Amino acid sequence: MSSHFITGLEFDKSQILKLLALASDIKQQPQEFAHALAGKSVVTLFEKPSLRTRLSFDIGINKLGGHAVYLDQQNGAMGSRESVQDFALNIATWADALVARVSSHHTLEVLAEYSDIPVVNSLCDLYHPCQALADFLTLQEVFGDVSQIKLAYLGEGNNVCQSLLLLAATLGADFVAVCPKGHSPDAQIVKQAEQIAAVNGASVLISDRIEAAAGANALYTDTWVSMGSDTSLEQAKATFMPYQLNQTLLDQTGASTVLHCQPAHRGYEITSEVMDGPKARILQQAENRMHAQNALLLALMNKQIV
Ligand code: CP
Ligand code: NVA
Repeated sequence: MSSHFITGLEFDKSQILKLLALASDIKQQPQEFAHALAGKSVVTLFEKPSLRTRLSFDIGINKLGGHAVYLDQQNGAMGSRESVQDFALNIATWADALVARVSSHHTLEVLAEYSDIPVVNSLCDLYHPCQALADFLTLQEVFGDVSQIKLAYLGEGNNVCQSLLLLAATLGADFVAVCPKGHSPDAQIVKQAEQIAAVNGASVLISDRIEAAAGANALYTDTWVSMGSDTSLEQAKATFMPYQLNQTLLDQTGASTVLHCQPAHRGYEITSEVMDGPKARILQQAENRMHAQNALLLALMNKQIV
């Protein structure tokens, strides 16, 4: 098993299933894991803002008896005060793992290259693999065997979409990305997902037609404008409004479950009616960030699942 988790593809299907099982155990019996990271320190480094990721790692590590150190860019941005390589080399002398939210995926590759401690991607331009883990933990809680479901993602084919696509393929879930023209997920990642899906008996469909979401068990959306983009939500509206997750669409598809990674923009990619409605599992997803990440840290730091 790789000591890093930066694309999410470091773990195969059976390892992901073990990871999800461990996450459920931690969720159900937290007291059994209260000292699992005793004496261990994790640096959580953020180049971008965060609520859920920062807090779920910090509080989660604390619940495992470990110590989290938050580092933002106020004390010297990576690559400007000193190189990314030197950041990694120094942090690895003190810490037992590094969690990093970065603008460019390449930064994670450099951090991983120069760290002899596990490096975890907590969001980059291409992937959000910790989010996808929590989302599939949530889907497993709702549906049981996730290989039997169809998940439809609506909106921008971004980092969140790409990690869901890869994890759906790995776990054998059918996946549809319904995105406006010019906003589909990265072609290379789609190709990779298609290859993985073929092995696991799953399908991948990328479409700009909303009808492609029909029959989905779960609908998922994310912001139309990711952090770092200079497009405004108002500007995005013209392109994305037909892909809004609203009650009419929900009723049309017949889906039982609604997911959103948050932060959400009510009235844009999702309506309040749906977000606060009975089919939403959005706060369950947010809670599951912590359990899924705790399982991941135990797997990487304590080699707990393999
Ligand atoms: N879903 C998620 O990663 O939220 P934050 O940006 O608040 O961490
Ligand atoms: N796609 C969003 C996800 C935020 C959790 C972004 O990158 O800003």
